[in-house]
Amino acid sequence: MKNRSLVSITDYSKEEYLKILDLAEEFEKNPKQSILEKFVVATLFFEPSTRTRLSFESAASQLGAKVIGFSDASNSSVSKGETLKDTILTVSNYSDIIVMRHPREGSARFASEVSKVPVINAGDGGNQHPTQCLLDLYSIRKTQGKLDNLNVAFVGDLKYGRTVHSLVMALCNFNTTFHLVSPIELKLPSYVKMHIKNNNLNYFQYTDLNDVMETADIIYMTRIQRERFSDPIEYEKVKNAYILSASMLDNCKPNMRILHPLPRVNEITEDVDATAQAYYFTQALNGVFVRQALLATILGVK
Ligand code: CP
Repeated sequence: MKNRSLVSITDYSKEEYLKILDLAEEFEKNPKQSILEKFVVATLFFEPSTRTRLSFESAASQLGAKVIGFSDASNSSVSKGETLKDTILTVSNYSDIIVMRHPREGSARFASEVSKVPVINAGDGGNQHPTQCLLDLYSIRKTQGKLDNLNVAFVGDLKYGRTVHSLVMALCNFNTTFHLVSPIELKLPSYVKMHIKNNNLNYFQYTDLNDVMETADIIYMTRIQRERFSDPIEYEKVKNAYILSASMLDNCKPNMRILHPLPRVNEITEDVDATAQAYYFTQALNGVFVRQALLATILGVK
């Protein structure tokens, strides 16, 4: 994994996922170590972020790395018409690794091909979000004590949800049964469903969230993403499709936990936050340790 870019979750093997998760456990016990003092981490965010950018920057800072970059491309020379290729070539002269989020699908792969240093995809449009996926795996293993043989329900925007696409693909290594809850318009893309089938696993599709409440070990809620719709009327039709409230949790399995990549809008009501099933804020904290493991591994320190 040393010096290798991470663009799609399928760039890593099952053994490599587990190596990152094991290392993240070590960082969780001891997150402040001066092991990256020699390194510069660049964070280039062409699309808004709170958790991914700040947890990467926190992860790098706690390990002693210097962090450079931008959180708003309008303050960079992109606003003067600079191409992505020229931006990446330039920043790869200034840093040892680039963490990039971009609204265009395929942009991270392109960046990894022109960069002189490894590129970590922090989300490319509706395609992939592999580092979120690794922290989701970490959170599932921590709450369930295992990754194998679980019933995982994905709820909401399964069409444009890049975190969903990455996590479904990764979970195909762990004999998962998939429960896919979405409006008809936002079903999981065929290529992701094909990935499930090619791994000889089963998926079931639903439109009613209540249908999975008693079966699921994990309920992975997602936001209906206004920014991915070209037609605002289509967004209005589905924006309130699923709202999970505390009163719906009465018959869920004792081990069931609710994950959400966040941010949420209205799909989980605030009364859920105080329940034993809510795990999404701890999930976001886990992102620091998983990203420390990734940075240390790709930079060749671990
Ligand atoms: N989960 C996630 O990608 O959150 P941000 O958009 O805040 O980075």
